Amino acid sequence: MLNALNEIESTGLAALESAATAEELEAWRVTFVGTKGKIRSVMPMMKDVAKEDKGIVGKRLNEVKNALESGLKAKQATLGSGSSASSTGPMLDMTEPGTIDTHALGREHIITRVRGELVEIFARLGFEVAQGPELEDEEHNFAKLNIPDAHPARDPIDNFYVDDPRKVDMPRMLRSQTSTVQIRTMDDAVAKGWGPPIKIVSPGRVYRPDTVDATHSFMFHQIEGLYIDRDVSMSDLMSTLLQFARAYFGEEAEVRLRPSFFPFTEPSAEFDMMISLKPGEPAQWVELGGCGMVDPNVLKACGIDPEEWSGFAFGFGIERIAMGKYGIPDIRMLFENDVRFLQRV
Ligand code: DAH
Repeated sequence: MLNALNEIESTGLAALESAATAEELEAWRVTFVGTKGKIRSVMPMMKDVAKEDKGIVGKRLNEVKNALESGLKAKQATLGSGSSASSTGPMLDMTEPGTIDTHALGREHIITRVRGELVEIFARLGFEVAQGPELEDEEHNFAKLNIPDAHPARDPIDNFYVDDPRKVDMPRMLRSQTSTVQIRTMDDAVAKGWGPPIKIVSPGRVYRPDTVDATHSFMFHQIEGLYIDRDVSMSDLMSTLLQFARAYFGEEAEVRLRPSFFPFTEPSAEFDMMISLKPGEPAQWVELGGCGMVDPNVLKACGIDPEEWSGFAFGFGIERIAMGKYGIPDIRMLFENDVRFLQRV
């Protein structure tokens, strides 16, 4: 029996050594330590062993059984955590972090983000957010903004009219500027008696039938600002714009005002900033929009006495600001919905 046990031990351990897959290991288990395996098959021989030898043979039987069983356990562990090619299925490690590739995460569109950042900065300067409709009429888009009937800005070629201006008294149109919200806010403040003072910004979409190219789009975004109070002056306008520029583009931001003309402000200016529009290119003066002191005619049209109140206004292109801030070279990239613009990186 001792010979049989030695034989089982040496062939068993050798066979165990060469088992390379989980299936082979299972077959080995059945052959050697299973209920009908070789160890079990030698057990009946115990009854033929001489009484005085039973102790020593029994001890040897246990040794061989234990050696084979612990060999099996060790092998199971190495095969289980080894390469999946050598086992029926890889061991599942529930503690391993997952990979997030099936449900890609999105983020805010860059225009939404910039709009939020601008509103946040102006909120710190005391501006509230006001909203107005995108479907407007000539009264708010032109007349009350001191833009006379014959003004070229009213040309149907340059606007998206919804009604035919030759046939309808107050034709509707997609607004071409967010300055409409100045009018709506002043009208509202006067009608409801809560202002002036008025201090608002209004971000939103505007529409113009421009040919699309790297810097133009038929739909884009502006942010309008309006501050009406007693004794508001041009220097308040300049310091507000400088504070905005430094808060958003950094303390080094350079700004300049250039004399200009808008029907709704007097005096009027263009607001420029030193910005690099393409990554790596030197900064240049970029026109972000217009500004000025609100024309007394505009205040009067909204029922505000220009002898008592004065104010400034500004209107900037949000795309221009976004392109300057984030180094986007072409406005079309903002509207093409390339998924890379929307992916969380
Ligand atoms: N509405 C003008 C435009 O679309 C921009 C503008 C200029 C807005 C001067 C203002 C302003 O409020 O005061 O080009």
